[in-house]
Amino acid sequence: MAVESSPAASIDALAHALQGVGYHAPRSLVTAVFLALKLQRPLLLEGEPGVGKTELAKALSAVLSRPLLRLQCYDGMEQREALYEWNHTGQLLHMNAARHSAAPDQIEREVYQERYLIRRPLLQALQAPAPGAVLLIDEVDRADEPFEAFLLEYLGEYQVTIPELGTIRAEAAPLTLLTSNRTRDLNDAVKRRCLYQWLDYPDRDRELAIVRSQVPQASAALTEQVTQFVSRLRNQPFANAFQRSPGIAESVEWAKALVALDTLVLDPEVIQDTAGILFKQREDVAALLPLLDQLLAPEAA
Ligand SMILES: Nc1ncnc2c1ncn2[C@@H]1O[C@H](COP(=O)(O)OP(=O)(O)O)[C@@H](O)[C@H]1O
Ligand SMILES: [Mg+2]
Repeated sequence: MAVESSPAASIDALAHALQGVGYHAPRSLVTAVFLALKLQRPLLLEGEPGVGKTELAKALSAVLSRPLLRLQCYDGMEQREALYEWNHTGQLLHMNAARHSAAPDQIEREVYQERYLIRRPLLQALQAPAPGAVLLIDEVDRADEPFEAFLLEYLGEYQVTIPELGTIRAEAAPLTLLTSNRTRDLNDAVKRRCLYQWLDYPDRDRELAIVRSQVPQASAALTEQVTQFVSRLRNQPFANAFQRSPGIAESVEWAKALVALDTLVLDPEVIQDTAGILFKQREDVAALLPLLDQLLAPEAA
């Protein structure tokens, strides 16, 4: 086995290190991460749910020994949840204690000190010491446009401006990953500031490796059948029958369930009984059943 000096030294070293923590990445994705590190640019990851976007940030945090800071986006999210807010209770107590001994503008200066600042993930990322944090801005497509606009200064310059404290610049560029399930198109200005990588469902070999490593108790034959079945589901002509294809997490969970049921060979009955693991929508479960024979048919030569 090659001895690598640092996981970030080369694309191969990074791929190897990610695999070491159980994350199997295609080379294009490892290259994108490598470049994000080298060029100190944020990386926007887009792809269907369950293809490994969030997991990548966790794996990178482990591999690079950098703290993971996570911002889960949602509609209506405010800056104070992303960046900072003031500890109002602390400020009030301070004002009460100081009101007889200090002049009002001195008190005002005192309550806007860093000790009353509550740091949220973006600010924590900027202030993390070298080598810097991994900042995951997860599901940014769920946030609204004003929030995207707010991110621009951070994404472009790794800095933010806090009115009471001035501009805060990163001590070490955080490895910043944005993810999107593509429920809507992101603002062009956000995209321009980021490197971009589309994550596809894994090919069969990669999914086989993932399921093997996460469900080692499954027989080789069962793992093969699971990955082949799921891969067929996701591809034409079957994919169109479903609203949402199963992700990697579903394959893994399905393999675990089949092991728990002592399944040796996939058959229509066991698939029907466990379809709720693959699909989380009633319509998709219903659409699966009439296709089972075709899905289970031996592969055309
Ligand atoms: N490349 C991968 N290697 C190993 N496991 C993976 C990989 N991609 C996804 N997984 C598994 O699938 C699950 C779902 O992935 P996740 O990152 O939550 O998807 P997303 O954020 O794209 O919706 C993870 O918890 C992990 O177990
Ligand atoms: Mg995710």
